[in-house]
This record gives sequence, C-alpha cells and structure tokens, in this order.
Amino acid sequence: MKDILQELEDRRVEARKGGGARRVAAQHEKGKLTARERIDLLLDEGSFEEFDMFVAHRCIDFGMEQDRPYGDGVVTGWGTINGRLVYVFSQDFTVLGGSVSETHAKKICKIMDMAVQNGAPVIGINDSGGARIQEGVDSLAGYGEVFQRNITASGVVPQISVIMGPCAGGAVYSPAMTDFIFMVKDSSYMFVTGPDVVKTVTNEQVTAEELGGATTHTRKSSVADAAFENDVEALAEVRRLVDFLPSSNREKPPVRPFFDDPGRIEDSLDTLVPDNPNMPYDMKELITKIADEGDFYEIQAEFAKNMITGFIRIEGQTVGVVANQPMVLAGCLDIDSSRKAARFVRFCDCFEIPLLTLVDVPGFLPGVTQEYNGVIKHGAKLLFAYGEATVPKVTVITRKAYGGAYVVMASKHLGADFNYAWPTSEIAVMGAKGATEIIHRADRGNPEKLAAHAKDYEDRFASPFIAAERGFVDEVIMPHSTRKRVARAFASLRGKQAQMPWKKHDNIPL
Ligand code: HXC
Repeated sequence: MKDILQELEDRRVEARKGGGARRVAAQHEKGKLTARERIDLLLDEGSFEEFDMFVAHRCIDFGMEQDRPYGDGVVTGWGTINGRLVYVFSQDFTVLGGSVSETHAKKICKIMDMAVQNGAPVIGINDSGGARIQEGVDSLAGYGEVFQRNITASGVVPQISVIMGPCAGGAVYSPAMTDFIFMVKDSSYMFVTGPDVVKTVTNEQVTAEELGGATTHTRKSSVADAAFENDVEALAEVRRLVDFLPSSNREKPPVRPFFDDPGRIEDSLDTLVPDNPNMPYDMKELITKIADEGDFYEIQAEFAKNMITGFIRIEGQTVGVVANQPMVLAGCLDIDSSRKAARFVRFCDCFEIPLLTLVDVPGFLPGVTQEYNGVIKHGAKLLFAYGEATVPKVTVITRKAYGGAYVVMASKHLGADFNYAWPTSEIAVMGAKGATEIIHRADRGNPEKLAAHAKDYEDRFASPFIAAERGFVDEVIMPHSTRKRVARAFASLRGKQAQMPWKKHDNIPL
C-alpha cells in the first residue's frame, strides 16, 4: 500500500515539474511565470483542484511516442476567487511549447463543459505555440471543439482570457470569442499571421510587439480590454474583475459589503459642468462620486477614450457604467466609441448587470472617414444594444444630448427606466448656432439677427425642461444628489421583469 501511495506522489512530482528545470528557468528569464505559478496567484490560496494531471497525448508520429509528458501542456481544474467557484486552464509553455494537441484541447473542453453545467466563469491563461505541429488535423479538430464551447458558453458563464505569451494563427479566435481579454506588456502577443508572413505578403516590416502586443491591442485594434506590466498584476486584476461579475446567467452578481452612504451628497458636483458649454470636464469625476467608495473598474480604458465603460457598485451591487467623456473629442459618438459601448452594454445585459448611462454628447462625429468606414452600421450597434437590453437602465444627462445621439444614449424611447437630467442639460436636435443657420437661412448675412435667433433657440431648447414637459425626462435633479437618486432608482428596479418577444436571435447590425 505504501508503495502505491509513493508511486502516486512520485507521479505528481513528475507532472508538476512541467518541462523541467531548464525550460522553467527559460520561462522565468522571459519575465513569465509558469502555468502553475499563475494558477496559484489567480486562485484563493490552496483552493485549486486539478483535473487530468496525468493525461498524455496519443500521437505516434515524428517520434512523439517517446515524449509523452504528463498533463500534455495545459494545467486544468477549478478553485475559488474570494470564495466563488471558477474553472481555469493554464497553458504550460515549458511542455511542448504549450502547443495544442487533441488531448490538450480535450482537457480544456472538459472544464468548459463543467463550467457551463455548474454555472461558473471560465478563465483561460494562454501561453502557447499554437497547433501541435506533429498532430496535424487532430490538433485543428481540438481547437474547433474549444471554439464551439466558447460560443455555447457565451452569455451563459463569463469567459475571461489572459494572454501571457504567444497566441497566434487560428488560436487567437478562442480568446476573441470570450468576454474579456487581458494582456501582459512585452511578453504576450496575438496575431493571425506573424511578422515573417506579413513581410512576405505585404512587405511591411513590423515586430511581434508592434503587430500584436498589448499596447497595439488595447489602443489600436481594441481586441484586448486591458494591458498590464507583468503576470502578477494581470492576475490580480482578473480577481478584481471576477468580483464584479455574476457566476452565470442564472445568478445575480455578488453583493459586497459597502461602507458608503447611498444618500451621500456631493456638493462639488454642482460646479462640475463649466459655465462655458464648450469647456470640457472629466466625466470620471462623476462616475467615482456616484460609486461606492469611489471604486471604478474601467474596461478598455485606452481605446476610444471619448466613451467610458466599466463597473462600479452602488449599495454593494454591480452596475455597468457607460458614459460620454467630454475631455476627448467633446464626448461625441463615432465608430470606435459606438462599438466599444455596444459590446459592453450587451455583456451587461446578458449577465443581468444594471446599466447606468451618463450623457454629455454633442452628436455623431462628422467626416468622410467615419462615413466610409460605416458609422451608420457601427452607431446602430449601440442603438440596437441599448434598445434590446432589458436590464434596469438609469440615465443621467449632465449637459449635451443632441440629435440621434440623444436617442442612442439610453433615452426614454429605448426603454430606459429612469431618465434624469441636470439643470445644465441641453436636449435638442442640434446646437443653437447650427440650427439657426438652417432654419433662418435668409438671415445668413446678418450676424446680429442670427445671434438673436440662436439665443431664442437656446432659450427654448437648450434646457431639460421641454423634454421634462413631454415626460422624456422623468425628473430634473440637483447634481449634488445624483448618487442618492441613482441608488434609489436602481433599488426600486430590483424586481424588474421585462421581455422581448420570442425570436431565435436578433440580427444586430454586425
Ligand atoms: C509543437 C512546439 C510548437 C508547436 C513550439 N513548440 N511551438 N511544438 N507544436 N506549435 C516547442 C518547440 O519545439 C520547443 O521545444 C518549445 O516548444 C519552445 O519553443 P521555442 O521555439 O524554443 O520557443 P521560443 O523561441 O520562445 O519561440 C516560441 C514560438 C515558436 C514563437 C511560439 O516556438 C514558434 O514559432 N512555434 C511555432 C508556431 C506555429 O507555427 N504554430 C502553428 C500555428 S498554426 P523544445 O523541446 O525545444 O523545448 C495554428 C493554427 C491554429 O496554431 C488553428 C486553429 C483553428
């Protein structure tokens, strides 16, 4: 009996060695942690339970039958984050370059199936040379099985990808279908074809970091949601993110203890909006003043900065925030900001996270580039996303809400439950100057008359009161009481039930 126990222990020790001391040292030299070290940092101490530690591949080509390491290049299992169940896979680059074989993929599929069945998030740590070259189509089939599970799990359990090494070729499409992608600066990259192929085909010379590094994907492509300095920071941030999310679409997000008075009055908000309507101000100040303890978890902070998206808590409950940022491009809607916000709104809606929308939007960004690149279709994404979202929706207009952008930004007409406006709001078809130049075309040569018309237009429309008369704005509220009003609104909506008519699925303008 003792011998058998010892044999198990020996096998475990062997499996935990991964690719051996030399490859582990090489991994550390690159500033990267090993697959198991990452899992230890991600999960609550001692909570990890491993599956399939002794799985080995079945390939007999290219001498592979002589090289059958335990685990087959991926560590899988489950554990907890602040006491809540999550499933995790962590590719082990020290074992055959973390490459994906038929059996490697099966291990990932197993924990994904369990996650969907048991209603818990899947966190995938990616560090892999891609398809196991020796296995050919078996490896591709394995990827295909993972892809299908990503799709099936979408909207059922949150899926988070952490890219901590190479992720190239078709392999990128598994993370691409998950809800959030985090990357590590200088040690991770994602691209469909690498720099060598790019050079051959298009004659462009580019490094791996430039082509698909963390900075590229958080600032230019928006493929990734956040970039971090190192593995430790990235994993700590995954833990923070998971705390905001429900475990599945069958549950509400966790309610955290809070020590912040929901009725807190913020007098400084009364002067947040400058007297000059063309002066910017920082919308993040309003977000943090509404949030419990000023805690704001921003998503895609480096992309389309004219739109802010992220999570806060109000009375301990998660709320998704979408806000125009007047400091960048005057907070206008454009292709990038519409896409960014639309995806975020849809994430919140599929996981029953209420939405708070803060509006200061002068309209859609005009221009040939915008039109040629399809601002109509991309703007429609956000419109569609808001209109189909049945979660509690509370909107606060702080200043401008012009034209189509007024309707798009969670207006009453798209089913928002509470529409508040600050007294500084201007809700109109367009700015007074532009409006008068059109409706008083005959007076174009007379600046004095035009100014008078503009003043008249402003007096009539550049306020929240016409909208309030129509009931499109439920209440004009004091800025200092925003947290209190918003908290009460969400509290009153906790029992909200709303459904769209049955359909197979909608046809959002992709
Ligand atoms: C088998 C692989 C491998 C792979 C790496 N290794 N990638 N083994 N299949 N795809 C092994 C290496 O042989 C080596 O083994 C170890 O992993 C570490 O690799 P190195 O090259 O020494 O590491 P490094 O210099 O850091 O370079 C990393 C790399 C490079 C850039 C990822 O290994 C590489 O280019 N690999 C091939 C990438 C690739 O073309 N993959 C297929 C893409 S197509 P030893 O024993 O020496 O430690 C694809 C399609 C997916 O993925 C489609 C899904 C639908």
